[in-house]
Amino acid sequence: MIAPHGGTLIDRVLSADAEAELKSKASKLPSITLNNREASDLRMISIGAFSPLSGFMRQAEYEGAVKDAHLPGGIPWTIPVTLSTDAATAGSLSVGAEVALKDADGTVVGSLELEEKFGFDAKLEAREVYRTEDEAHPGVANVYSQGEVLLGGPIRAIKVNPADVYADTDRPPAETRRIFQENGWNSVVGFQTRNPIHRAHEYIMKCALELVDGLMIHPLVGETKSGDIDAEVRMRCYKALLSDYYPSDRTLLSVLPAFMRYAGPKEAIFHAIVRKNYGCTHFIVGRDHAGVGDYYGTYDAQHIFSEFDAGALAISPMMFEHSFFCTECGGMATAKTCPHPNENHVFLSGTKVREMLVAGERPPAEFTRPEIADILIEAARAE
Ligand code: ADX
Repeated sequence: MIAPHGGTLIDRVLSADAEAELKSKASKLPSITLNNREASDLRMISIGAFSPLSGFMRQAEYEGAVKDAHLPGGIPWTIPVTLSTDAATAGSLSVGAEVALKDADGTVVGSLELEEKFGFDAKLEAREVYRTEDEAHPGVANVYSQGEVLLGGPIRAIKVNPADVYADTDRPPAETRRIFQENGWNSVVGFQTRNPIHRAHEYIMKCALELVDGLMIHPLVGETKSGDIDAEVRMRCYKALLSDYYPSDRTLLSVLPAFMRYAGPKEAIFHAIVRKNYGCTHFIVGRDHAGVGDYYGTYDAQHIFSEFDAGALAISPMMFEHSFFCTECGGMATAKTCPHPNENHVFLSGTKVREMLVAGERPPAEFTRPEIADILIEAARAE
């Protein structure tokens, strides 16, 4: 079994007793209300998905991640995991204090042991992590919307009971690791997606599965930008596709309750590290992984892997070129394996697909399997 990033799988989920204790004293503690990204990060840290992080970043970790893409001590880490507040609230909190963490509804979801308060340069973070200062970038907009002070220190979190739609697929890293072991999968490839699975996704996953023991389809179901397809609709698509087209003894569908940052290359490294924590030995990186708009080159998220020590990452990227159905080849292919011109390739833009679905039209079966198209059409009509 591949070791977690940094060597130890972090567990900061409160026991039932500790949870009761936190709830009973919470009203006497100073408190911070988390935004959706911070609430998701809290959960991800607590279940070990962000190992070796055991809390929101302290200054050295933050600056290491932003400026050097490594944590102090030299472990690769490309995405800041921060908790922010405004200067007045930060001023009212003393270092060493226990701070109750609340979600948007005011429910206590965990606690922070405040170790550090520090300022940060949002534009620098935008440039270094997102490669743009443009506030139209959804990830950059999130960086800019933070309070001016970051609060660092270890956290504890109350166990989250998954929503019904994820009841049978929401598993923490310790559990996916156990399943891989029980299945005797020595090598497992993880697949990140924030979309319904189209034929191109299916093709690269199956090419990857030809080379390893198991496949974990690991859709991100935390918050995504508006315009992306709802996670509940996607779950129906994944389940339909899995039941008809994937071998059940080699495929695990499990969800990743993470917030999507759209940081392209930097997020590809981060996504790989997180999947290593879930026990994957391999990770699929296709075209424009975790990209948005035109901010990143088609293969930037693949090229960035050469800037990192493969031994330190330990999880191996499996890289795929842009794939499509080729009418001359009569099957799925990529520019690497198909000699025919673009006219033979079935390609539809995201916008075109959305238009078709709203109009109740199935995209070609070479692009999206009809079973999936029908679920998407029904969802588009219900909107
Ligand atoms: S992402 O934001 O999660 O990366 P998406 O769900 O579209 O977006 O992609 C999931 C994975 O499939 C990513 O690794 C992406 O690079 C890859 N991918 C998506 N479409 C294609 C395609 N046509 N050819 C090759 N890889 C693709």
